[in-house]
Amino acid sequence: MQSTPAADRKGMLRAAELAVRALGHTSPNPVVGCCLVYRPGQPDERLLAEGFHRRAGDLHAEAAALAALSPEDRLLLPLATAYVTLEPCAHHGKTPPCADALVSAGIGRVVYGTEDPDPRVSGNGLRLLEAADVVVEAASLELQDWCRWINRRFLVSVEQQRPYLVLKWAQTPDGGMDAARTVEHPGPFPVSSPEAQVVVHRWRSEEDALLVGARTWDLDRPQLNARLVGGRAPRRLVLGTPSTPLPSDVTCFAKPEDALAWCHENGIRSVLVEGGASVLAYFLQAGLWDELRVLTQDRPWTPSVWAPSLPDNAQPLTGSEQTNRGFPKRLGATECRVYLRSTDLTE
Ligand SMILES: NC(=O)c1ccc[n+]([C@@H]2O[C@H](COP(=O)([O-])OP(=O)(O)OC[C@H]3O[C@@H](n4cnc5c(N)ncnc54)[C@H](OP(=O)(O)O)[C@@H]3O)[C@@H](O)[C@H]2O)c1
Ligand SMILES: [Zn+2]
Repeated sequence: MQSTPAADRKGMLRAAELAVRALGHTSPNPVVGCCLVYRPGQPDERLLAEGFHRRAGDLHAEAAALAALSPEDRLLLPLATAYVTLEPCAHHGKTPPCADALVSAGIGRVVYGTEDPDPRVSGNGLRLLEAADVVVEAASLELQDWCRWINRRFLVSVEQQRPYLVLKWAQTPDGGMDAARTVEHPGPFPVSSPEAQVVVHRWRSEEDALLVGARTWDLDRPQLNARLVGGRAPRRLVLGTPSTPLPSDVTCFAKPEDALAWCHENGIRSVLVEGGASVLAYFLQAGLWDELRVLTQDRPWTPSVWAPSLPDNAQPLTGSEQTNRGFPKRLGATECRVYLRSTDLTE
């Protein structure tokens, strides 16, 4: 089965593009995309079919792509490559194993983006394909990294037995997170631009849960939904004991570790921690974070609360890395900086 690095790159990038269409909708499952390409890199190369996993319980990406094949094109599968962002599954869940489905369909070659750390799969999907004489190859390192990035919530959650943690806050250039509240100006004060608030709502719609501290809940009365983008509403979590009433769908925890354990047990793969200052400081000091998103507004005032300092291992994405990963750099009067853990970047 001949192919070229350029054709393999194109195939996997397409599969990744399909996968992210379902971002925020597949939990507790990963996002997965698949495309089936006849003779990649050859003059008669042709995309036969493609598919992605839309939500838990629906067809897996490979099954969706196979289902989209015409009967004539199905006969071409021995000369086709399946590009899949995640190792095909090998276990009977809500749907039959995709590795079996690819073998029965007669696929010639499979290129995968990342191995599936789920103990029920974890290399079994690849072994099953290889045992059936399917050519199995890992994507290039660049695309393995990319596939890991698009599925970081699922992968970190399975590997570390806790949800992927995104910490986000808005601040003034000198680190003010809220203005002093007075009778004349009782707040809450928007710390970031209207454009940034829309992006924050998109970010909310991409995570499984949102968490704030009791004091933020009491002072700001945040709705914690994605109304500005019409997005899916994540679970709402509060840490501590708020003095104002909590709606029945808001879950309250006395300890952060209880919140994380509950998320893990309930298939919540990611949490956007939105403050306030003491909650953020706790998560940072405990090393409980994967990604930091800091919105800085050039708007001087007398702060009443200070943003936490960045940990030593917080490494900012470069401008082009931010752009490639879909993060804006500037939103009106607000600058956006994203940080990852430096160990993750050198992995
Ligand atoms: N600019 C921004 O992005 C932004 C975002 C959010 C909030 N804010 C501002 O931040 C301020 C609120 O921040 P804050 O630091 O005063 O309060 P906070 O972090 O919102 O809430 C503090 C409360 O959370 C609970 N808590 C915090 N850490 C905990 C831990 N490790 N274990 C258990 N419970 C924990 C405690 O509740 P109990 O005492 O009940 O146990 C604590 O009193 C407000 O002014 C708000 O406007 C700004
Ligand atoms: Zn599958």
